[in-house]
Amino acid sequence: MHWKEEGYIAPPARFIGQANAADPDIFQRFAEERFPECFKEYADLLDWDAYWHTTLDTSDPPFWKWFVGGRLNACHNCVDRHLATQRNKAALIWVPEPESEATLAITYQELHKRVNEFAALLRDFCELKAGDRVTFHLPMVPELPVSMLACARLGVIHSEVFGGFSGTACGDRIADSGSRVLVTMDGYFRNGELADHKVKADEAVDAAAKLGADVDKVLVWRRRPGAYASQSPMVDGRDFFVDDLLQTYRGKQVEPVSMPADAPLFLMYTSGTTARPKGCQHSTGGYLAYVTGTSKYYQDIHPDDTYWCMADIGWITGHSYIVYGPLALGTTSVIYEGVPTYPDPGRPWRIAERLGVNIFHTAPTAIRLLRKLGPDEPRKYGYRFKHMTTVGEPIEPDVWRWYHDVVGKGEAVVVDTWWQTETGGFLGSTLPALQPMKPGSCGPGVLGVYPVIYDEDRNVVEAGSGNAGNICIRNPWPGIFQTIWGQPERFVDLYYRKYCADPDSKDWHDWPYLAGDGAMLADDGYFRILGRVDDVINVAGHRLGTKELESAAITVEEVAEAAAVPVLDELRGRAVEMYISLKPGITGGDDIRGKVIAAIETQIGKIARPQNVWIVSDMPKTRSGKIMRRVIASISNFADVGDTTTLSNPEIVDDIRHQVQSEKLARGEAPRPLTPEEEAEIKAFGRTE
Ligand code: WTA
Repeated sequence: MHWKEEGYIAPPARFIGQANAADPDIFQRFAEERFPECFKEYADLLDWDAYWHTTLDTSDPPFWKWFVGGRLNACHNCVDRHLATQRNKAALIWVPEPESEATLAITYQELHKRVNEFAALLRDFCELKAGDRVTFHLPMVPELPVSMLACARLGVIHSEVFGGFSGTACGDRIADSGSRVLVTMDGYFRNGELADHKVKADEAVDAAAKLGADVDKVLVWRRRPGAYASQSPMVDGRDFFVDDLLQTYRGKQVEPVSMPADAPLFLMYTSGTTARPKGCQHSTGGYLAYVTGTSKYYQDIHPDDTYWCMADIGWITGHSYIVYGPLALGTTSVIYEGVPTYPDPGRPWRIAERLGVNIFHTAPTAIRLLRKLGPDEPRKYGYRFKHMTTVGEPIEPDVWRWYHDVVGKGEAVVVDTWWQTETGGFLGSTLPALQPMKPGSCGPGVLGVYPVIYDEDRNVVEAGSGNAGNICIRNPWPGIFQTIWGQPERFVDLYYRKYCADPDSKDWHDWPYLAGDGAMLADDGYFRILGRVDDVINVAGHRLGTKELESAAITVEEVAEAAAVPVLDELRGRAVEMYISLKPGITGGDDIRGKVIAAIETQIGKIARPQNVWIVSDMPKTRSGKIMRRVIASISNFADVGDTTTLSNPEIVDDIRHQVQSEKLARGEAPRPLTPEEEAEIKAFGRTE
């Protein structure tokens, strides 16, 4: 099962002939000796109101500032500037989940109108101004990019919370960001059902209030204007239907506010090692330049392409590579409301065929699912992709090959893009016309990004050594987040402290960025990403923090202790298993398991629902009382538990193993044997404690 080094696959000549980056000279332009000025090439893809005087300011490490002195507006760059030549081209094509509902094409002209009207509403009705924060809890509807761009027009910082998160999780993020306004929707279609979404807004406002944050206004877009899709009553004086309010703002124009390049554009929350989520703050100029440049060269987006990224806009992939990057390039970006397998696993290919999609972008989880449910479906449809992306998790070589051979019909280049919420855009990928593909490896560092792998003692792990280590980026790049909102010390601690050579140094060379992933580097300079080395579990491409799961579980009265661990899952990559121990004198089974699941769903969302909740008599612990997560993770995955002699209660290990593994065997849930890489990942789990 070991992932051997795979052979190379060359890009098709037809792709190379039309690619944005087809001249190898580009590697010289982005060579390390040209850093940081090389990134002028990305910034020059944008319209600037004022040109910058300093490309990279490193005076306050690691709070890098890009394009200092420059001013621009992100909404102008994504919308207004395309009006002159292509106002009647589709900016967005929205595909509702019900197949009976018509596809909606929103031209650049129409997008401009909608964005201006909503910006006028935000400014005049909500009294929002540059620097204020607004939280969105919106599903995959065009109102989401409209809302984002309206904020960008005003310099208001948007903070979109993934629609699948619970109301409580949204409320935590409202409070953390200090938003007074929540923008939501009444309902949306998912798996054939109209889900009630507004009800989560009420939970969110309550959760925020408990944390001392007051929401004055809840703006509710209606999935069908005029028809309310939710059971939850509108609260007088607080909740407003956006379609009603917009009557007043019809045809209103709002001047784009010229923002400093380093003004924050948005926050995107992600999970980390503590229960408090991290609001990754992204800049206007650096971020927009970076996603535009990488969309052009790595996604190979031309203005006349039809580009479809199936990610959710509620995650960073959607922000960077559905909205900001593609629209800055003036292309047509497709948004699909629902699940890829509804009503059948041919759906994505029907959409691609009907709309003439030629660039397709999705995650390994979706590929695995589509392969399992409809291995031959792609052949039935006449679409032709020139380019496809995979993102979010390591992709197994055989899954990669199905994607390339069957989905891509052997005609499309595939890029495996490795990056993170924090990094704004791609970090590792092949440049599609110039570097061959290698299944299972993302490729080298992207243009202007220089990765390195360090071991625990800051020694460089050499290419071809066969050893894994912590992948870092040696240099700053324009897409890197600016800070964790409200927690600058945590920003420095988590991402820079470990390998910082000298905390007083103003030289960026001393401040490598720690990504938190394990990786290996082959002789050819291609990286293979192994997965998280911190307490984050990547479930179907969604990052879940173990501490968040555990704190949700211990809100159940009967629960004394809780530990969350990853377990291999053929479709989702990883799934979550919870181990809990009960307070003295308490006994129980399914009732308590049910409560734990309910608590997790309420506090985080259904995406975090554990696969199993094991009630154990005690947790394996170190002598200082810490739960040894790697031991239970090994048990859940039928892996070797390793050395348990340092435990204060080693005898418990066999009890738990017997309890869990016999039950799993009885249910046919035993996983396949782990690869050496997976084994290493499980062993490392919980190491950051
Ligand atoms: C993982 C998603 C392997 C990685 C853009 C990273 C990947 C985390 C890849 C970030 C890839 C992302 N191959 N692993 N191509 N892309 N990851 O913040 O562990 O949701 O740290 O950003 O996903 O997840 P996030």
